[in-house]
Amino acid sequence: MCGIVGFIGSQQAAPILLDGLKKLEYRGYDSAGIAILNDSKIDIRKVTGRIANLCELTDDGKNCNGTVGIGHTRWATHGAPTDTNAHPHLSNDGKFAVVHNGIIENYIALREELIQKGYDFQSETDTEVIVHLIEMYYKGDLKKAVIKTSARLHGSYALGVVCTDEPEKIYVAREASPLILGVGVGENYFASDVTALVSYTRNAIYMEDGEFAEITPDSITVFDPAGKPIEKNISRITWDIQSAEKGGYEHFMLKEIMEQPRAVKATIAPRIKGDDIVLDDTDLTAEYLKSINKIVITACGSAYYAGCAGKYAIEKLCRIPVQVELASELRYSDPLIDEHTLLIVLSQSGETADTIAAMKECKNRGAKTLAIVNVVGSTIANIADNTLYTWAGPEIAVATTKGYTTQVAVLYLFALYTAKKIGSIEDKEYSDALKTVKSLPKKIQEAIDMNTGIANFAKKYHGVDSVFFIGRNTDYAVSLEAALKLKEISYIHAESYAAGELKHGTIALIEEHRPVVALCCNRALMEKTMSNIVEVKARGADILAVTFKDNQKIVPLADDMVFVPETDTIFTAAVEIIPLQLLSYYVAKENGCDIDKPKNLAKSVTVE
Ligand code: F6R
Repeated sequence: MCGIVGFIGSQQAAPILLDGLKKLEYRGYDSAGIAILNDSKIDIRKVTGRIANLCELTDDGKNCNGTVGIGHTRWATHGAPTDTNAHPHLSNDGKFAVVHNGIIENYIALREELIQKGYDFQSETDTEVIVHLIEMYYKGDLKKAVIKTSARLHGSYALGVVCTDEPEKIYVAREASPLILGVGVGENYFASDVTALVSYTRNAIYMEDGEFAEITPDSITVFDPAGKPIEKNISRITWDIQSAEKGGYEHFMLKEIMEQPRAVKATIAPRIKGDDIVLDDTDLTAEYLKSINKIVITACGSAYYAGCAGKYAIEKLCRIPVQVELASELRYSDPLIDEHTLLIVLSQSGETADTIAAMKECKNRGAKTLAIVNVVGSTIANIADNTLYTWAGPEIAVATTKGYTTQVAVLYLFALYTAKKIGSIEDKEYSDALKTVKSLPKKIQEAIDMNTGIANFAKKYHGVDSVFFIGRNTDYAVSLEAALKLKEISYIHAESYAAGELKHGTIALIEEHRPVVALCCNRALMEKTMSNIVEVKARGADILAVTFKDNQKIVPLADDMVFVPETDTIFTAAVEIIPLQLLSYYVAKENGCDIDKPKNLAKSVTVE
């Protein structure tokens, strides 16, 4: 959570920082601030609310003079979102300012120690201990002060530090929070995410845990934790600027929904060569895949639900048991994992704290790890034994859409690849399945085109207080994601239920005009789901059925119908979710919600 950005060069820093913060706003948006070095003083401006408020306060940066600065957009963890708790934080002597993304776990002990030494705290944040430690350790050498401070911190941090005594430098440090350096000409940058850098430079250095760096206008020097300079590669940022902008859509979420055919194609096409699936960015050999006795998929939120959808394809095609585990549970469950387990980790951001922790736990127990990640150079991609990137491009809306569908698509590829390698699939079944996977981008486009009128249903649903989503098997997996989408952006209570399970208690909540979205894209279980529809209809529910165009059987049962193109059941999730993403979007719009930045949320969840 939180986004940090910094600039040093000869241009005015404030407008560049504000522009960067706007790009990072998806990471947190309850308060924001900048610190600009000017005439041996630090000018701090911070304010509660969105970056727009900070722009107003600073007249779009015009009333803050200086060519060196750091900025922050916050997702509150320690202390309410107030002006005082907003970053940057200033040292008591006014010489140092710090921005921080992450959590300092031992901040209470450090705070007590610093208070006893006479340091005065202004905020309730964990971050403020950092700036006072730097002041305490500073003896005319900022590098040494940063090394000593970092050694005292437990937890996660990406830091940016400026100092009035060393105005030609910014120091940054990283431990378990993303930090990327932007390499310019006569000017340099840092940020939590390449989206904040890409308008200024395409040359980036990805910092690793324990590293810190000194940034001047003309140089970047990266150090190991002991302060020894280390060589770092400069990587090329390939994301284009437009992909991080709205491109004429009212919201990023709608743009990202519409991008799914392209995103899924970009993800699968380079990995399909003729009749072969080529995962040459991995070492998943036939010998290794034959040696595993189970696959554990772990992730959080929608990524976890992508795992739930992928499980059906892997189990059906490979006949290897698949367990899908919430990362926040798996990490503390003393899991039964060893070298015969393949751990698949799903994450759009590659920075989700619980997912990282679960992955480390399973790695320690001997599992090989395969990460399916969207952000290049992210922590999860770095830790994993193997990484398959989803080439979805930057996902800015807090609610994931193309992140989810591309994760599901990679799981389908993995399932088919593994089945072929271990010989659990006949040639004919393999080539039919591959054809289906290849057709997914087209089918996703058809699902978008078939549902241009879905905004009309939103008018009917937006005023309700609770919605149930029901389905069986693959339909159930999709219903989990559909319910999450609706609740997180429209703030309507939504619950997903395995259709056959409803009558074991929860059916008590079905009453006159309770909306029930019934997912019916699994042909084999259609009759069973239809019986469940009848049960809730008999109790007064209004049914919105999601099914195939030619499925006339459902018509008499449903009040409203939404259609998708028929897809082989085990691969249907990536297509079936489309109208439900659109429905959530339009319901949230009817409700006047802040769709791209829903309340209480942040895009990258880097706290437990
Ligand atoms: C919901 C959503 C979240 C994320 C979850 C994991 O729309 O986006 O539930 O899926 O926070 O995030 P990543 O995939 O970045 O690990």
